[in-house]
Amino acid sequence: MNIIKDRFKDSVMIVTGAAGGIGKAIALRAAKEGAKLVLADRKVEMSKSTLDEIKAITDDVEFLVLDLSKAENCRRVTEVAKDKFGGLDILINNAGIMGNPAPVHKITEKEFRNVFDCIVMTAFHMSHFGINLMLEGNKGGAIVNTSSVAGLVGFPGHSAYVTAKHALNGLTRNMALDYAKNGIRVNAINPGVTDTPMYHEALDYLKRKKEAAEKAGIKLQGGIVSGKTTSPQNRVALAQEVADVCLFLASNEASNVTGIVMPVDGGFTAY
Ligand SMILES: NC(=O)c1ccc[n+]([C@@H]2O[C@H](COP(=O)([O-])OP(=O)(O)OC[C@H]3O[C@@H](n4cnc5c(N)ncnc54)[C@H](O)[C@@H]3O)[C@@H](O)[C@H]2O)c1
Repeated sequence: MNIIKDRFKDSVMIVTGAAGGIGKAIALRAAKEGAKLVLADRKVEMSKSTLDEIKAITDDVEFLVLDLSKAENCRRVTEVAKDKFGGLDILINNAGIMGNPAPVHKITEKEFRNVFDCIVMTAFHMSHFGINLMLEGNKGGAIVNTSSVAGLVGFPGHSAYVTAKHALNGLTRNMALDYAKNGIRVNAINPGVTDTPMYHEALDYLKRKKEAAEKAGIKLQGGIVSGKTTSPQNRVALAQEVADVCLFLASNEASNVTGIVMPVDGGFTAY
């Protein structure tokens, strides 16, 4: 990673899902490049230790530990951006969960809604309050949504996650159209399998499920970490590689880029 000095100097940036994985990698690099950060996540311990790491780089950081699927909490995050740093330039909607895989006839409404809320409603609420703040500032802005290759193609058994990530890509395109006239660019990155806590949770879940199935004499098939997992690069991405593309889209270097849903997947969706 080559730090681009002062790339985000004087930029106020919100990153959701910043406690670990891709969100933390985004926040750490943005801090090194001069951003004033408002971070949010619901994981208490991980948020605390990430805040400590970022405080070693900059004092211009606030970390709110709350559930972003609730509108009021998203409003609070944007209020902190306004009260502490005077506005908002960049919003990174990165929070998300995969949920346990289940096809439609098996998943409960509660499980389906939970995945949808943590991905789509979180991005909707944050964008609603965030765009109002950007419009107030009247100097444009940039939004990057962390979607997934599951927003571009289907994955056997992952009905809720695939639905939510496709919806997030739709929201991305529509916001790009609606706010181009205000100088607000909106794009999405669509990572493939990336080495983060979410990936390890999915592997653990699959391992437990496989063991239980073997005991019961059932043969499992499909699933995001058991089906087509390899990209042509034949490796799992690093969180930093995904963060780098996100920050490119958030920066002025991408000033003519809006409305794209960009795979960051080592070629996974190319075949
Ligand atoms: N890791 C992968 O293979 C992969 C692939 C494609 C897309 N993604 C996406 O990348 C994004 C980041 O995930 P990651 O891989 O870094 O995993 P991660 O689990 O480390 O990060 C996601 C973060 O979002 C937070 N979050 C989720 N719902 C929340 C809520 N309602 N309120 C507050 N915080 C909430 C979690 O606490 C977590 O810290 C997610 O949107 C994920 O869907 C990940």
